[in-house]
Amino acid sequence: MLNAVILVGGEGTRLRPLTERMPKPMLPLLGRPLIDYTFDHLRSAGVGKAILACGYLPTQIQAHFGENAEGLELEYRVEPEPLGTGGGIRFGADGLDRTFLALNGDSLREADLARLIEFHRDRGAAATILLTPVDDPSRFGLVRVDDQGRVTGFLEKPKPEEIDTNLINAGLYVLEPEVLDLVPEGKQVSIERDVFPILADRGRLCALALPGYWLDVGTPASYLQAHLDLLERSAGNNIGPAVEGGDIELVPPVMAETEVVIEDGARVGPLVYLGAGSRVGSGAVVERVALLPGAVIPSGARIAGAIVSPEFGVIAA
Ligand code: GDD
Ligand code: MG
Repeated sequence: MLNAVILVGGEGTRLRPLTERMPKPMLPLLGRPLIDYTFDHLRSAGVGKAILACGYLPTQIQAHFGENAEGLELEYRVEPEPLGTGGGIRFGADGLDRTFLALNGDSLREADLARLIEFHRDRGAAATILLTPVDDPSRFGLVRVDDQGRVTGFLEKPKPEEIDTNLINAGLYVLEPEVLDLVPEGKQVSIERDVFPILADRGRLCALALPGYWLDVGTPASYLQAHLDLLERSAGNNIGPAVEGGDIELVPPVMAETEVVIEDGARVGPLVYLGAGSRVGSGAVVERVALLPGAVIPSGARIAGAIVSPEFGVIAA
């Protein structure tokens, strides 16, 4: 059985105030917690068990999912203090004795992980990183690879003058247990800064870019983007019978959950998600917006490019 360690210990600082009382993995995306999309992906890749390395607000995840997410066994390990990404992986992987996956819990991904594992085995790597292209690598881990797929350089948060590729660490790794020996106990260890450079020097670190979707949900802008991407895929309007309202204009794609109210004269869309129980006041104009469950847009408001929260109101994205 294939195991995965998921890092969910971060505080999600750039998504405050949304993450003040809710850990980032539990933020809703089209009515489901963000981490649920990762569970889907892992399950479809044949992962049988996921160990969640938790720190910040861990109980909410456990209270929601319990020990099993539709066939994916879940175990929660709560770090006594933040151990960093490397420390968290070591802590979560303690006791695993064969190849496993480790991943950041804050991204949305779709990629053929069986191919990644096969590539890892073919290369005899100790660790293999899934890569993805981005426009601006500066916020990520930049990965230089040779034509065999061996990593020749790993630069976490590269400086502008260091950027010579658009391939970055997509935050998912195939790891051999021997990698854990490179993570000293009892202090914070970053797998990106402290472990990958050593493995690269030894020629034991490989990386592969695979086609598929990837989005790091770290800011209000990328959290909104996650909604917009899913709306775009759904195309057209998807508004359940529960939407109330008379003289309204819906510009597709618009998606609405149950008990949504859109008042007279409002124009909604394109690219609007209306969470359960949300409300758009009369005459409001709303475009490229995600209304979280229960959120309210006042009458006459014009809002574009935002997340709207029931507690915190409009968060510009
Ligand atoms: N358990 C645990 N303990 N988890 C942690 C800790 C910790 O001390 N610190 C961070 N995490 C978790 C976060 O919750 C997140 O899921 C993941 O580790 C990565 O941490 P971030 O703080 O979100 O890092 P980042 O987004 O700046 O960069 C990372 O992700 C990029 C891709 O999204 C790096 O891995 C980059 O190299 C990568 O490109
Ligand atoms: Mg992140």
